[in-house]
Amino acid sequence: MTTLTETKTKKRGKGDLGFATRAIHAGQKPDPSTGAISPPIYQTTTYAQTAVGVNKGFTYSRTGNPTVAALEENLGILEKGVGGACYNSGLAAITALFSLLSSGDHAIIGTVVYGGTPRLANSIFSRFGIKFSYVDTSDAGAVKSEIRENTKLIFIETPANPTLKLSDIEALSEIKGEAKLVVDNTFYTPAIQIPIELGADIVMHSTTKYIEGHNTTIGGAIITRSKRELEELKFIQNAAGSILSPFNAWLTLRGLKTLDLRMKKHSENALAIAEYLESHPKVSKVLYPGLPSFPQAALARKQGNSLHGGMVSFELKGGVKAGLKFASSLSLISLAENLGAVETMVTHPATMTHAAMSRKSRLAAGITDGLIRVSVGLEDADDIITDLDQAIRKAAA
Ligand SMILES: Cc1ncc(COP(=O)(O)O)c(C=O)c1O
Repeated sequence: MTTLTETKTKKRGKGDLGFATRAIHAGQKPDPSTGAISPPIYQTTTYAQTAVGVNKGFTYSRTGNPTVAALEENLGILEKGVGGACYNSGLAAITALFSLLSSGDHAIIGTVVYGGTPRLANSIFSRFGIKFSYVDTSDAGAVKSEIRENTKLIFIETPANPTLKLSDIEALSEIKGEAKLVVDNTFYTPAIQIPIELGADIVMHSTTKYIEGHNTTIGGAIITRSKRELEELKFIQNAAGSILSPFNAWLTLRGLKTLDLRMKKHSENALAIAEYLESHPKVSKVLYPGLPSFPQAALARKQGNSLHGGMVSFELKGGVKAGLKFASSLSLISLAENLGAVETMVTHPATMTHAAMSRKSRLAAGITDGLIRVSVGLEDADDIITDLDQAIRKAAA
């Protein structure tokens, strides 16, 4: 399938198209039979063949579907890889990634990552003889000393969920040796940070979050810089059977069309909220990579563009009790597990997203009992602040 991006490549060179243009057009062109601008939802299980082995590139929708293929191509281009593979959740994407490993292999995972990642590693993949160790990946030296002969993967999340701690992708790419460096880019998205350009081998997304962006789908993706690895991931997708549905792929493609705009507004709102929280006498700590007080503010500027995303974490004075009262006093803002959507949502990681971690590991990772994570949405910043303000007052009463 010749895409608009490929056509333009001949005239302008792929790199000449801006991010917003690629997000809107890559992998898609008007439907040749009708001219429809929006790519059709190919809601079909199978495809008629004119003779045995003669087909139009698709045979069965577990193996490939045109709507899903358009999304995979789009994400591959946005993340500057050779292509992508989409799955029915972010965790299914990580399952496919860990399926690249064999018994006896070793993988390093950052200490601060989404709680479901170590749960998958420890409770399922470790049963098959794969060894995992957990390292503070913000310290490249610590990662280097943990690398063994059989280390095949280094999995990091940057910014990490929920402390927003950063890991230096370039520094890790220099010490990784034969291991593949994988970046979960869910929090920043390629609108802010392109890990492959910084030396990563593989990028992973929970497309459930900013990529689709509207709280309407669960999905995941892997993008790689190696053709051979992409083939292996496609083989795993077909053999293990986790695929994204055509409808969810279509919703995700639609979400991507506004990714650039959304990430700019998420970042603008989040900075306003972080500054408000930092000046509040009842708030003891605010974590946001765009604040000058953020411990890794210089790395945040080096690794991304001028945006810092929509995630802000903070701690109220009064610990867990104040945090729980705050969470139940919100009105416009929802207390919810998800992040990265147009609606502002608040999470209490210790009892929600990171409940699968032991308290000891949580505390060691900086996920304190009173930490609150805000996924700042696209409402008017003043309205978000008004709601936060009344809930903080109730929590302090
Ligand atoms: C950073 C990150 N990675 C991966 C996941 C897992 O994705 P999903 O919920 O789509 O399976 C999440 C979910 O919250 C996440 O926040």
